[in-house]
Amino acid sequence: MNDDLKRQAAAMALTQVRPGMRLGLGTGSTAWHFVDLLGAKVAAGFDCICVPTSEVTARQAESLGIPLSNLETLDRLDITVDGADEIDPALNLIKGAGGALLREKIVAAASDVMIVIADGSKLVDTLGKFPLPIEVNRFGLGATQRTIAEVNAAHGAQGGLKLRQTKDGAPYVTDGGHLILDAFFGRISQPEALSRDLLDIAGVVQHGLFLQMCKKAYVAMPDGVRTIQ
Ligand code: 5RP
Repeated sequence: MNDDLKRQAAAMALTQVRPGMRLGLGTGSTAWHFVDLLGAKVAAGFDCICVPTSEVTARQAESLGIPLSNLETLDRLDITVDGADEIDPALNLIKGAGGALLREKIVAAASDVMIVIADGSKLVDTLGKFPLPIEVNRFGLGATQRTIAEVNAAHGAQGGLKLRQTKDGAPYVTDGGHLILDAFFGRISQPEALSRDLLDIAGVVQHGLFLQMCKKAYVAMPDGVRTIQ
């Protein structure tokens, strides 16, 4: 059911894609559908060039014959299509459950338009119920973790920080070789200030708040796909 909705949202995003476009390809189970649908279009002769936001997405796109490039060769992209973990009414997002937030943010920032695709379960009034992923350098993890905890407490975090782990208990390592701390807020009342404060911490590489980056969201509900812009 949810998978059907994700595919419907992805299909709507595909209607925005024009021949010759430079596209950012997101990461996650919803973005997977977009890449899959785009792959079918490419197999039928559609021309585009894409930058993937993770190694997983790169492998999927390669397997479908989608032409790939990078942000060294392409300075700007037309559209990035990606999923999200939370979407607020102003289209601010929490992203990073799939661990790709750093490349996702770099690719979205290099894109003229970021389109988010999701099912309705991702809509929230206020960000923060979903844990906020914070990507950190491995060096000095303890010190970075303590400073993040202080900053988060000052922003009203209701829970602690959890080092993300794989199923077998090893630390989860991102495509960039960093670690992820998941932060439990409950409610993020001042996302812009939190964003700035987290980025001021030396060991923080990036975080999963995507503020004022998304221009349009296709959110699939059982009664149809809603466009939010
Ligand atoms: C990966 C992400 C994903 O886009 C986000 O987690 C949504 O994933 P899904 O579509 O599987 O719910 O940010 O880093």
